[in-house]
Amino acid sequence: MKLFDVYPLFDIEPVKAHGSYVWDKNGVKYLDLYGGHAVISIGHSHPHYVQKLNEQLNAIGFYSNSVKIKMQEELAEKLGELSGYPGYQLFLCNSGAEANENALKLASFHTGKKKVIAFGKSFHGRTSLAVASTDDAKIIAPVNETENVIFLPLNDEFAFEQAMNKDVCAVIVEGIQGFGGIHIPTNSFLQKLQSECEKFGALLILDEIQSGYGRSGKFFAHQYSNVQPDLITVAKGMGNGFPIAGVFIHPDVKAKHGMLGTTFGGSYLACAAGIAVLDVLKNESLIQNASEMGNYLLEELSKLPGITEVRGEGLMVGIELEFPCAQIRSELLFEHKIFTGSSSDKNTLRILPSLTIQKVELDQFLNAFKIVLSKQFVK
Ligand SMILES: Cc1ncc(COP(=O)(O)O)c(C=O)c1O
Repeated sequence: MKLFDVYPLFDIEPVKAHGSYVWDKNGVKYLDLYGGHAVISIGHSHPHYVQKLNEQLNAIGFYSNSVKIKMQEELAEKLGELSGYPGYQLFLCNSGAEANENALKLASFHTGKKKVIAFGKSFHGRTSLAVASTDDAKIIAPVNETENVIFLPLNDEFAFEQAMNKDVCAVIVEGIQGFGGIHIPTNSFLQKLQSECEKFGALLILDEIQSGYGRSGKFFAHQYSNVQPDLITVAKGMGNGFPIAGVFIHPDVKAKHGMLGTTFGGSYLACAAGIAVLDVLKNESLIQNASEMGNYLLEELSKLPGITEVRGEGLMVGIELEFPCAQIRSELLFEHKIFTGSSSDKNTLRILPSLTIQKVELDQFLNAFKIVLSKQFVK
């Protein structure tokens, strides 16, 4: 059988990884500033994570959500504490799209309404409602088209106020837009979303799937703005590569048996991965490191020529160039052995390293970046 050819692939085969580095099958070492779509939070193959997953697999790997899985409670307890949301409820699932799908469904169940407001350049996943709330017509199949979702420009408070009404069940926004090219909702915009949601009885959903788990220098990017969303979705960095995702649910939203569900979500192995990630984030002060290293990176990048704008918080950084970034990415990868990310904006490069990244590794990137940028001006 052949693979369904949906991905444009680099001709590189990683076979080993550690910390911020991966090695290909020929032994070539690469600096990873992308973490496979922002997934690697505590570094590749962190020894504590590897040990905990191995131990768990030797004990019990899976049973379904028809029995008590105490590790889910341990994960929820630790997550509530580290994130600053100890009073919220946690629903565990497997991927970012699934988390958003469940959050949107829950908002509709809870309010009995069905209109959703999403924003320009958003990405919320590829399943039915998640993709319908994603601002990319190319990935919305005809069956997913719906009049229930409307899109508004990010940070346009006036447009939002005009559009908000009593039929809206959910407003969904990324803590920092990732795939859209690293665009940050302003504090005042997020506060406006919260106050209007309260006024019209809608739920505010913060999609922190890419911007959460410490990447922004706070546990959640929205914590820069003093809002308390009704629902928060997490995935990516949550399992450092093990598929695990979750929805944080405000205490006022009451659960009913059968309302949500999943076969794999919250398995022993997923919980072991999730708990190991939280332990490492806390014990190694990685959120603090993300903040410090992010500030350093943003400051150094702001000194370089050929850059239109540098955007970001912590280790979620977008570099908008004056020209398309494909050639720069390819030179960084093949000549300097550094992985970086693209975005839906062809001029914007995304930098999403592990939260364990150190100055010496960022300097390796900055030096290489200066070289590839300078070549553009010589042409
Ligand atoms: C902000 C955001 N939401 C949702 C998703 C979807 O996550 P998944 O690919 O795990 O379904 C992504 C993935 O890139 C994302 O960046």
